[in-house]
Amino acid sequence: MNGPRSGPVSNRGRATVESDTPSAAVCEVTTIVSGGSRGLGLAVAQRLLERGDRVATFSRSGSAALVALAAKHPGRVHHEQLDAADSDAVRRFVGNTVDRFGRVDHCVANAAVAAEGILATMADADIDAMLTVNLRGAIVLVRECVRQFLAQPRSLPDADAGAGSVVMVSSVVAARGSPGLAVYAATKAGLEGFARCLAREVGPRGIRVNAVAPGFLATDLSATLSPSDRERIVRRTPLGRLGDTADIVGAIDFLTGPGAAFVTGQTLTIDGGGAT
Ligand SMILES: NC(=O)c1ccc[n+]([C@@H]2O[C@H](COP(=O)([O-])OP(=O)(O)OC[C@H]3O[C@@H](n4cnc5c(N)ncnc54)[C@H](OP(=O)(O)O)[C@@H]3O)[C@@H](O)[C@H]2O)c1
Repeated sequence: MNGPRSGPVSNRGRATVESDTPSAAVCEVTTIVSGGSRGLGLAVAQRLLERGDRVATFSRSGSAALVALAAKHPGRVHHEQLDAADSDAVRRFVGNTVDRFGRVDHCVANAAVAAEGILATMADADIDAMLTVNLRGAIVLVRECVRQFLAQPRSLPDADAGAGSVVMVSSVVAARGSPGLAVYAATKAGLEGFARCLAREVGPRGIRVNAVAPGFLATDLSATLSPSDRERIVRRTPLGRLGDTADIVGAIDFLTGPGAAFVTGQTLTIDGGGAT
């Protein structure tokens, strides 16, 4: 914790290398996951740490769970408290991550807010918050990561290793629709279009860009779902339950891993078969 904007697991300014030798450090993978304090972002951070990545994340608040995760993986987690609506702070965060870990290999754009409500009564502030955090915040983060991917040497000597990968966290409501979530869905549909176009733009440079579109998950974001809506979704889902963060983490692990070396421009829907 080194500054007013740093979270409890942060250690900004330290030129970190976990390994004993600089050459080993160069081969370590660093993944940025926005919104890693709880929910899906926390679960993704945990999985990626377990597979050996160093993880940099931000959120407006810290969390006990993230502090515990960082304690379990000493020196491998970088956290800053910042608002994704603040583009300068997001840009500095990517720079701080490079200062600390030396590089960025993958970016998971996960942080989002969801203000539910019918459009006719929705306030400008709620519309602005969703557009600014979910869409502009994610785009700015990815732009900064892509700049870094293009500027740095590839992480592994393997010629097949990509030059970086991006996963945008969308939602099934982007494609399927849901009353009360039109603006949220607009931001998610925007991210999917962004991923498809960017995949074509940066593919020739060895950078892959994909999206995942989860169905409803049992996290804080879906806490407003009424018991009856919850039951209805479960009843209509072929696999007969709501999704869990673990269901999405596996897909993100795959999309940021060597098994997905020839996968780009795709949106992977993970919703138990689709509630109708
Ligand atoms: N839950 C679902 O049913 C569901 C379904 C489909 C898709 N998704 C998508 O999955 C992703 C993760 O959702 P979740 O359910 O894990 O949500 P969550 O539990 O509410 O967690 C959201 C994370 O994003 C951070 N965040 C939110 N606003 C931020 C801001 N302005 N600046 C910085 N960080 C911010 C939060 O931390 P702070 O609040 O401390 O900032 C938190 O770490 C989102 O993209 C969401 O749209 C969720």
